[in-house]
Amino acid sequence: MNTHKIAVIAGDGIGPEVIAEGIRVLNKAAELDGNFAFEFTHFPWGCEYYKETGRMMAEDGIEQLSKFDAIFLGAVGAPGVPDHISLWELLLIIRKRFDQYINLRPVKLLEGAPCPLKDVAKEDVDMIFVRENTEGEYAGSGSWLFKGKPNEVVIQDGVFSRAGCERVIRYAYELAREQKKTLTSISKGNALNYSMVFWDQIFEEVGREYPDVKTYSYLVDAASMFMIKDPKRFEVVVTSNLFGDILTDLGAAIAGGMGLAAGANLNPERTFPSMFEPIHGSAPDIAGQGKSNPLATVWSASQMLEFFGHKEWADRLIDCIEEVLTEEKVLTPDLGGSATTSQVGDEILNKMVAGR
Ligand code: NAD
Ligand code: IPM
Ligand code: MN
Repeated sequence: MNTHKIAVIAGDGIGPEVIAEGIRVLNKAAELDGNFAFEFTHFPWGCEYYKETGRMMAEDGIEQLSKFDAIFLGAVGAPGVPDHISLWELLLIIRKRFDQYINLRPVKLLEGAPCPLKDVAKEDVDMIFVRENTEGEYAGSGSWLFKGKPNEVVIQDGVFSRAGCERVIRYAYELAREQKKTLTSISKGNALNYSMVFWDQIFEEVGREYPDVKTYSYLVDAASMFMIKDPKRFEVVVTSNLFGDILTDLGAAIAGGMGLAAGANLNPERTFPSMFEPIHGSAPDIAGQGKSNPLATVWSASQMLEFFGHKEWADRLIDCIEEVLTEEKVLTPDLGGSATTSQVGDEILNKMVAGR
């Protein structure tokens, strides 16, 4: 039996609610298939843990996680703990320490998903974002001088290494080649005269190895406008950490909302565990009410299945999500329904069983 060992960090707010459904779905896929299994180990890390211990995860947390095949993460962040502490000491440190330099975020309008744009067919919103995930604007480099004084100064560096840019850009070229799609780079070389000029240069350099891939390059301001006005321009997209963060929430908005947006944090070499998560946060405004949409988490479970080589199950889960969306019978309030988180989970399980 091929057993995948998964570390579960359900985290804060709606994290535990949506992760519970993701786990049920993964277990059901394993049960129906019969040739693989999951072994889940739960870690109680997050803001509650911080309030009790002063840490977001155990001191040897990274070492503990390194023994797993993958990490399944809900969401992190709660009122009462500063966000830059809760996120830096858990989510961001995992992405960095495990060199998960690819953040793969589909912005794809599924059958039945609501789209706020006018005159847009589902085929028009079909992008895959390759977000740089370990450096750039998130390098955590900077300083706070003369803190609290009238002359205080803060500096937040953007760190773009040649190796860091080349590897994410090359990954995106490979993906575009494999999928026979166009590749768009999103940057901001007109204003960011070091980092983004460098990014553009590397995009062009690496591109010489991929003459078969048709490319476009947009400034981030124009790109955000085109994502709304003409989303079909974008297929495979590669961009920096911060731009990728912002544009994928924009992407979520045009592809059904935060409740449907998934992301995979990949260490492509598989030296370290990769991490799968919905891209939304802990949604304190709806936490604990059974209102959270688990479909983003189900989609990230699909990404995990694909990562482990279970492509048929990965595709099957997307079909199940589409069936649930199209039927419109069992949906959470963000999608106009009145079902609870676990009722949506039940419905996905029903579809999985029915589709055997
Ligand atoms: P958020 O994504 O938590 O919520 C934004 C809006 O989307 C809210 O109105 C929320 O109710 C709604 N929403 C999000 N997920 C939903 C779901 N599954 N179903 C239905 N509605 C959903 O973003 P925020 O409010 O800016 O951040 C809240 C906290 O989460 C902060 O502490 C932030 O730092 C943290 N955060 C964590 C992650 C993560 O762990 N990956 C990601 C983003 C934000
Ligand atoms: C995301 C989140 C994180 C990010 C935050 C919570 C640090 O917004 O995964 O999109 O900016 O990467
Ligand atoms: Mn984000």
